[in-house]
Formats: sequence, structure tokens, C-alpha cells
Amino acid sequence: MRIFITGVTGQLGYDVLIEAVKRGHQVIGSGGRENKEIMKLFVTGVCGQLGHDVVNNATNRGHECIGSDIQDAYSGVADGSAVTSAPYVQLDITDRDAVAATIERIHPDAIIHCAAWTAVDAAEDEENRTRVDAINHLGTQHIAEAAKTTGSKMMYISTDYVFDGKGERPWQPDDKNYAPINVYGQSKLDGELAVSSTLDKYFIVRIAWVFGLNGKNFIKTMINVGKAHDTVRVVNDQIGTPTYTLDLARLLVDMIETEKYGYYHATNEGGYISWYDFCCEFYKQYGLNTSVIPVSTAEYGLSKAARPENSRLDKSMLVASGFTPLPTWQDAVRRYLQEAKL
Ligand SMILES: NC(=O)c1ccc[n+]([C@@H]2O[C@H](COP(=O)([O-])OP(=O)(O)OC[C@H]3O[C@@H](n4cnc5c(N)ncnc54)[C@H](OP(=O)(O)O)[C@@H]3O)[C@@H](O)[C@H]2O)c1
Repeated sequence: MRIFITGVTGQLGYDVLIEAVKRGHQVIGSGGRENKEIMKLFVTGVCGQLGHDVVNNATNRGHECIGSDIQDAYSGVADGSAVTSAPYVQLDITDRDAVAATIERIHPDAIIHCAAWTAVDAAEDEENRTRVDAINHLGTQHIAEAAKTTGSKMMYISTDYVFDGKGERPWQPDDKNYAPINVYGQSKLDGELAVSSTLDKYFIVRIAWVFGLNGKNFIKTMINVGKAHDTVRVVNDQIGTPTYTLDLARLLVDMIETEKYGYYHATNEGGYISWYDFCCEFYKQYGLNTSVIPVSTAEYGLSKAARPENSRLDKSMLVASGFTPLPTWQDAVRRYLQEAKL
């Protein structure tokens, strides 16, 4: 069928458009912002969870996207989505000259920097620390320097781990009492500071507890564990909110289309919860009867990296700046489970 879909820049319209394309329909989308400028976007980390969804969202809105990652070619999930056939550039962001040459050649209007070392426990190993810094701190510095040369907007994706997780007060985007408690958090903070000290036109968006279709995440892992065991133990004293990359990608592209620079926090709506609450909900939705035992971080046993107890991120800056918040995490879980076919 030929289908004309209005409001494709909104959440529902976008989801309808994606579903229609997947079913093979010929789709004409209308965004309701007819004079919207088409941008050239350079997106890093497209073989990972978030970069994959960012390229798809931006491409489906008509932006020109060039994806990049360290792999020789796009190596994420082969789902036939736009990112799988979008222009792709291999780039190791630790190579300063290569970053400068690539970004100067592409000359993007904006860069959405999703590439990172994300293995939080492995980051603690002595032999990995230099590489973690080279990617998350220096790699980000290289991109910021290149963005300065080309005059491109830059968006850096960061984390609740820049804070120490003490107390119960939700962290505000402009809080400056940074005190990371693990190597990964320190490297991401150093990346933030590289961006903010190099550029004027930047967004720093802190997210937490990420799950997406293109990669490993807590939901996928725990469903596999739950299928194999009658009982699982999950920590109930680390509090935060999950972030579905499909929902976040829509917001990030909304943001990059504006000049509303600054620090933001972005997770799904639906309230602050523990990993235990999260696991109970997706087991229920999935129909798993595995029993979930709540345990403290201390009872669970030490992981290599310390993790913050208070990962509450205050998101009120989103609405105050005129952005549409993400749907609830419960709704995101429902859509993710349908989509991921676990
Ligand atoms: N995942 C979370 O729970 C979480 C929470 C808060 C914030 N964040 C932040 O959100 C962003 C997106 O996370 P994600 O979950 O989508 O990450 P991801 O799935 O791990 O993807 C990151 C991508 O970056 C690539 N990469 C690593 N080193 C690189 C290098 N030197 N040059 C170029 N690319 C390189 C990775 O390749 P390899 O896989 O080959 O290393 C991977 O494809 C990151 O900035 C992360 O720090 C994530």
C-alpha cells in the first residue's frame, strides 16, 4: 500500500512509519515542520546500541547521516533498517589525526558522539585503564577539537556515573559536584570536560541503565538467566531509571535540530526504581515465573567497579526547554520485548 503518515517527527507517527516500512508499504511521511532544515549528521558508535537508533531516527526524518565506528564496516544487527545501508566511515576515535581529517572532510552540521568504552567492570583492570581514557576522554577531546574547526554542533552522551551516588536527591543537569567512583565514570567525566572546555555549541546528555535492540543489556541477560534458573538475586539498593535507546534517539534528534545547548538528563519517564523492580517488571511482562530475590549490593558481592546507589537523574530541564519527554520505562519494556523477540 501507499500510506501517507502525518506527524512522523512525533513518537507515535515515527513508530507507525517504522512499522509500515518494515511491512513493505510505500510510505510518505510528513513531519509537521515543513521548513525544518535538513542537516548533515556524523554519528559515532553506530555498531552499538544507541548509535544504531540515532542513525535510523535521523535518516527517517530526512537528515543526511554518516555513521562511524571502529569496525571496518557496519557490524550491528542486520535488521534491514536505515543504518545498515547508510554511509559508513571506519574511524578509531583515539587517532587524533584521523578524527580531524575525517570530520574536516565530512564537514557535518552536527556530530552525535555515541562511541565509548562501556564495559564498566573491565575498565577497572590495570591493563585497560589507558585505553579507557584514550577512548572516552581523549577520543572525545579529538572530536570536540574537530567540531571546533568545522563549526559543527556537538552532542556528547554521558552518564549518571559522573556523580558519586550519595544521598537521595535527584542529580540536576547543572550540578558540578562531580565525584566518579569508578574508572569508567572518571573517563566519561573527563570527556564531558573536554567538550565543555573546547566548544560553545554543545549538548551534554546524561543517560542511565541503557537498553536497545543492538547489543547486550540487562533485560537480555536477565531473561536468559531467568530461563535457566528458578531463582535470581537482583540488587535493590541502586536506584535510577532505565533508558530505551529507541525512545532516546527521538529526543536526541529533536535536540540536535535546535540551538538549545547545555546539559540535560534523559531517561524514560515512569519513576525511580531499583534493578530489582526493573527485573520484576520485565519478567512479569515476558511471562517468566522465575523468582526474583531482592539483595543489597553488599549481599550480592563485590563487582570490580563500584556503582552509585543514587542514580536518580532529574529530567525537568527537558520540558522546561520545550522538549517532549520519553514514554514510561514500563511502556518501553513492552515495546522492547515485542521488538527484540527474546
Ligand atoms: N550502556 C549503558 O548502560 C550506558 C549508560 C550511561 C551512558 N552510556 C553512554 O551512552 C553512549 C552509548 O552507549 P551504548 O550502550 O550504545 O554503547 P555500546 O553499545 O557499547 O556502543 C559503543 C560503540 O563504540 C565503539 N567504540 C569503542 N571504542 C571505539 C573507538 N576507539 N573508536 C570508535 N568507536 C569505538 C564500540 O565498539 P566495540 O564494541 O568494538 O568496542 C561500540 O560499537 C556511550 O557514550 C555510553 O558511555 C551508556
